[in-house]
Amino acid sequence: MSPRSAAGKSGDEFARAEHAAKFIRARTKLRPKIALVLGSGLGGFADGMQGAARLDYAKIPYFPRSTAIGHAGRLVLGNAGGVPVAVMQGRVHFYEGYSQREVIFPMRVLARLGIRAVILTNAAGGINREYKQGCLVVLRDHINLQGTNPLIGANDSRFGVRFPDLTQVYAKAYQKFALEEGKRLGVEIAQGVYAALTGPSYETPAEIRYLRTIGADLVGMSTVPEVIAAAHLGIRVLGISCVTNMAAGILDQPITAEEVLETGERVKGQFMALLNAVFPRIAAELSAPIAPSKALGDAT
Ligand code: HPA
Repeated sequence: MSPRSAAGKSGDEFARAEHAAKFIRARTKLRPKIALVLGSGLGGFADGMQGAARLDYAKIPYFPRSTAIGHAGRLVLGNAGGVPVAVMQGRVHFYEGYSQREVIFPMRVLARLGIRAVILTNAAGGINREYKQGCLVVLRDHINLQGTNPLIGANDSRFGVRFPDLTQVYAKAYQKFALEEGKRLGVEIAQGVYAALTGPSYETPAEIRYLRTIGADLVGMSTVPEVIAAAHLGIRVLGISCVTNMAAGILDQPITAEEVLETGERVKGQFMALLNAVFPRIAAELSAPIAPSKALGDAT
């Protein structure tokens, strides 16, 4: 079957997102304000969640189905770190043949569900030589090298404005939460800039040298379309990469998808502890009586 779903067809995408959100709302009493998207090999997070509603993407109206390995393709609504969260176990990618608009459809559904903050995780190649395989990196910024943008086309102002600002999409306050909680848990966390390419081939060593020159610390094939969609939707973002391998040409060895999944599996415990510690801090920030950006000095 073609990976294309109705989400990419012309017509009222807003109504489709609302329809999908209504379907999800009818299956749980939870009303999460925080979402988590789990990347390659990291999907196990929600498996142990208590009292959770689990919905296969295939059952959710208009939802794209993940064909990538290491992506379960399930939306789980449950409690983590004491707060209600919506967890996407797996995402779809541009390289699977989905349009950028299809890739961001789940973000639009999450927005209709009432989500106001999202943690986007991914597996990435480490370009920065100070990184080690298995280390976690909080995203400070990104470079979009997918050659397109998910917001191309007529703008639907019910989702957001025509020209969204990206200067503060990676919320500084959320980066601080992750760094502080990492320190408290004894999990070393770096910061970096993520470059998104289309894939599915890994990069050449020359491309990695080029990416380093233009300021990238990490390279991957996801996340950036969702971040752009989140900015459009007014959802604040925390991005966390797991360095599953050093990028092409750094070590004298090939990169394999198995290595990527194995490293994800190895750091899963640390990753889960960090996420469970960060959720309540984001939840507290979202329910603060004054505007979060003012309260936490994001405007500086
Ligand atoms: N390159 C691109 N995407 C990736 C990599 C990589 O080295 N590792 C995990 N995802």
